[in-house]
Amino acid sequence: MASTAAPTAVPLMDPKRVYEQWGPAAEQAVVRILREHSYVKGPEIDALEKESAASFGVARAVAVDSGTDALYLPLRALLDDRPADRREVIVPTFTFFATAGAVVNAGGVPVFADVLPDSMNLDPAEVARKASDRTAAVVPVHLFGAPADLAGVRSALGGRKVFVLEDAAQAIDATVAGRKVGALADAAAFSFYPSKNLGAAGDGGLFTTDDLALADLVASLREHGSKKTYFHERVGKNSRMDEIQAAVLRRKWPHLAAWTAARRAVAAGYDAAFADVPEVATPTTLPGATHVYHLYTLRVRRRDELVAHLKATGIGCGVYYPLPLHRQPCFARFSPAPCPVADRLATEVVSLPCFPGLSADEQRRVVAAVRGFYGR
Ligand SMILES: Cc1ncc(COP(=O)(O)O)c(C=O)c1O
Repeated sequence: MASTAAPTAVPLMDPKRVYEQWGPAAEQAVVRILREHSYVKGPEIDALEKESAASFGVARAVAVDSGTDALYLPLRALLDDRPADRREVIVPTFTFFATAGAVVNAGGVPVFADVLPDSMNLDPAEVARKASDRTAAVVPVHLFGAPADLAGVRSALGGRKVFVLEDAAQAIDATVAGRKVGALADAAAFSFYPSKNLGAAGDGGLFTTDDLALADLVASLREHGSKKTYFHERVGKNSRMDEIQAAVLRRKWPHLAAWTAARRAVAAGYDAAFADVPEVATPTTLPGATHVYHLYTLRVRRRDELVAHLKATGIGCGVYYPLPLHRQPCFARFSPAPCPVADRLATEVVSLPCFPGLSADEQRRVVAAVRGFYGR
């Protein structure tokens, strides 16, 4: 008898599918940590910091409790010593909230810059327009896993001494001219939020830099501003990563290259499948760069109708991001200027399932649903 059951839904993401590759080794490590009660400041953190610095090709990596604090702590280190009228930080308006939230929490003034219509990353021409003597830093975001144009940002700054902090939360192992993001500017922040390409078993983040003095300062700010226990030079906070998260990340890291390759293969399949659909624009990558497809994000016509159609067909999808940061009510007091490209993108973007373990059959169903919607 023919089955009448509807095909199972295709999820937007499903990290459980690769669990067996790393889970058993992590379980052993976590049980050891529990039995030894060695929860903080232990060997897993030390090893993670050394191994990750080597992986990115930087002098130091500092493990912290979230990607948000990996942004916040270096901004604090920078802005604490700057006069109040020189604390502007240029951020792209089309990004996750934390990029600008960290600026405000660190005592800075976010200056929202528009993005490029195809890469969706920070527009260097906007940096040139918005940089001034008040600018302390720029935080380019490698959005969705695609490297931002850091060379363009640097040249837009001309000779100005401005700190450039990569927000690499979504782009671990993406490269530009063979060099990994995280080593392309003055410093960088990564997130290990569970849905990221490399996710912890909870929250986690990493700060990277070649500047040893800055790394020391960030490491002390993560410990209430102290280098020696109970002696405090600054008011920091508790932003430590714990041993269990470091242990999990170290057991997952050896698989990251294969997971990234799997994401790229899915992305290549979508690129080919949508090449002849004029209503759909596929993701772009900077020349000489590689994309890691944290999200595979299309720009499409009739986005909301497509989203409704995908949902009705059981295809997971997401809108990142529906409201650019310059329009968020909490930032209204910074009098943001118009950012029309981001406004338009917010009505056009939709992200499709793209993760290691997505089956060929599932991808065919996603493709058929999108093409079918546009009458192909
Ligand atoms: C671009 C971007 N920046 C910063 C963050 C903050 O990272 P976390 O969630 O680990 O605090 C994220 C995470 O979602 C992100 O996507």
